[in-house]
Amino acid sequence: ARAMSDARLAIIVVAAGSGTRLGQQLPKAFVELHGRTILEHALHGVFGATHAAHVIIVAPASLLAQARTIGSRVAGAASEHVTVVAGGDTRQASVAAGLAVVPATVEAVLVHDAARALAPSALIDRVASAVLGGGSQGVIPALPVVDTVKRVEGARVVASVDRSDLVHVQTPQGFPRDELLAAYASADAEHTDDAALYAASGREVVTVPGEPRAFKITTPWDLNRADRMLDAGV
Ligand code: C5P
Repeated sequence: ARAMSDARLAIIVVAAGSGTRLGQQLPKAFVELHGRTILEHALHGVFGATHAAHVIIVAPASLLAQARTIGSRVAGAASEHVTVVAGGDTRQASVAAGLAVVPATVEAVLVHDAARALAPSALIDRVASAVLGGGSQGVIPALPVVDTVKRVEGARVVASVDRSDLVHVQTPQGFPRDELLAAYASADAEHTDDAALYAASGREVVTVPGEPRAFKITTPWDLNRADRMLDAGV
């Protein structure tokens, strides 16, 4: 962890989801993975980045103290640059709660899922550099779709979809602060990611290369995969 934070950058780590698909009692970000919580792994990626930042952890209301402890532990000397706030009922509401406490000096905001526990610091730097060095575009990490994709109605296949112009997208997703605040203020629907909300407000989004390690832990299978990767040191 670096001593100084870059006053121009804030990273909102959303960790307030219940994670019912993981089949555990605890909210997903507080489930243990290889001896640490999922949130702690994600924060290691964030604090390992060359771009220092204000880090805003959005946690379930019942786990604010735990989130603060985890944040301080990972941040070390930078812990004065960590803010913890309570999330909302949807991911979008949780991001909005984080946006509400972004410091005034900030020019760019990255929004990151805690559930992408193994997202490498290099990915965070890649998105941060692109947003800080760019114009008003949003920046999102993307990987090509490798499987063949079908459109279905029930079990029946109704179309093959050309995958050559499809990508999977990840987090962190980065945006100029004022533009993201304006997009959130005008949002009138629930979107599955921040880029969709940003685009719905008429703003442009571009991709940078994603990272396989930034996969989202959703099911027990994903948790097991992450655990084995850490076991193997990959
Ligand atoms: O549920 P899903 O895995 O898509 O959630 C993505 C991220 O958004 C997770 O890190 C989760 O903790 C967060 N989230 C949140 N508040 C919600 C729902 C999800 O912070 N109400």
